[in-house]
Amino acid sequence: MISTKRVYLDNAATTPMDDLVIEAMTNVMKNTYGNPSATHSLGRSSKAVIETSRKSIAKAINAESREIIFTSGGTEADNMAIRCAVKDLGLRNIITSPVEHKAVLETSKELAQEDGVELHLVNVDGQGRVDLVHLRELAEQNPGAIISLMHANNELGTLLDYKTVSEIARANNCLFHSDTVQTMGHYAFDVQEFGADMLTCSAHKLNGPKGIGFLYVNKALNFKPMITGGGQESNHRAGTENVVGIVGLAKALEIAFNNLEEEQNHISGIKNYMMSEIEKNLPSVSFNGDTSYEGGLYTVLNCSLPPQENNALLLFQMDIEGVCCSGGSACNSGATKGSHVLEAINHPQDRQAIRFSFGRYTTTDDIDFAINALRKLLKPETVQV
Ligand SMILES: Cc1ncc(COP(=O)(O)O)c(C=O)c1O
Repeated sequence: MISTKRVYLDNAATTPMDDLVIEAMTNVMKNTYGNPSATHSLGRSSKAVIETSRKSIAKAINAESREIIFTSGGTEADNMAIRCAVKDLGLRNIITSPVEHKAVLETSKELAQEDGVELHLVNVDGQGRVDLVHLRELAEQNPGAIISLMHANNELGTLLDYKTVSEIARANNCLFHSDTVQTMGHYAFDVQEFGADMLTCSAHKLNGPKGIGFLYVNKALNFKPMITGGGQESNHRAGTENVVGIVGLAKALEIAFNNLEEEQNHISGIKNYMMSEIEKNLPSVSFNGDTSYEGGLYTVLNCSLPPQENNALLLFQMDIEGVCCSGGSACNSGATKGSHVLEAINHPQDRQAIRFSFGRYTTTDDIDFAINALRKLLKPETVQV
C-alpha cells in the first residue's frame, strides 16, 4: 500500500521555501514589476530592489556588490566561471576532480574537446577527498590553470580543505573556483578567508526559490558576458533580471545567516541521530563519504546498503513507503544511470547507495519513519531486532 504520509529527506536536491522568502517575493511580484532597465519610477524601484539585494548578499559574505553576478542558478554560475576563465582570460588548463557536479565536469570536458584546453583530474580517495599532494603536483606542472573544486560534494557531503587548495592555487598562479552550492548558507562565509576567486551559489538549496543564484567573481577578473544581448549585470550577463528571484535569494541568505548556529546544531543533531539509529538497528548499512563534523557536510548522509536482489528498486520502494530521498544515481526517464561520484570512489556495484539529506524542517520523527521504511525493505538477516 502506498503511504499517505510523506517525509522529505532530499534537501540536497532542493529545499522547501521559507514562508518569509515567499512573503518577500510575493510583495515584489505584486508591487515592483517595472523593468529594471526602464528609466521611469517603477523601473528605478525594481533596479533599487536588485541593488539592495546585491548589497545585502555581498555584505553577508564580505564581498563587494560589484563582485556578485546574478545567474539562473548554480549550473549557469559554474558554466560562467569555467567558460569565462578559458574564453576571456585565456586559461589553457583546467584542474578539477572526477566527483564534481556535472555543471563543472561536463563543461570542462566540452572545453577540452572543442577549445583544445587540457583537462587534469585530481585523484580522490574512497571518501571523495581530494588528494592534495596530487593537486599540488598538477598545479606545479600547470601554473596559471583554473582549479575548480567543490566545497562539499552533493552526493557524499565530503568537504574540501579549501584553505590548502587556495594556498596551492596562489603558489602556482592558478585561479580557484569553488562550487559552494551545497554549503552557502550552511556555514559562515567570508570570501577573503575562503581564498577563492570565484564561488557559485544557488538559492533553492537554502530554502529560496529555484532558477536564481549568483557567481561571486573577484573584482580583479575581467569577464565578458556569456549570455549576450543587453547590458544588464554591469555588462556581465544580458537579459532582464529575475527581480523576484533575486529578492528571494537575498532573503533566503539573510535568514540562513541569521539562524546559522541554531540550524547547524539542529541539522547536525538530526544527522548524528540518523547515524546512531542506523548503527544500532541496521548494522549492515555503512556510510559513504566523510561523516565527521569537520570533514563532512552536516546536511548529507549517504548510506551504502547491503547487496540484495531488489536493490535497484529500493529508491522506488522508499518512495512508496513515503520517504523522499535520492540514490547516488541520476534518474533519466525512469532508467537509472550509475553515479560518476560513486564510480570515482569505487563504491561496490552490488550495493545500493541512498542519500538522505536534511534541512531546517527535518525532525527526528522523520528519521524514525525513514529507518522503519528501510527496516521493512532490507532483508531480515541484515536488520537488528
Ligand atoms: C554541487 C551542485 N552544483 C550545482 C548544482 C546546480 O544548481 P542549480 O540547480 O541551481 O542549477 C547543484 C544542484 O543540484 C549542486 O548540488
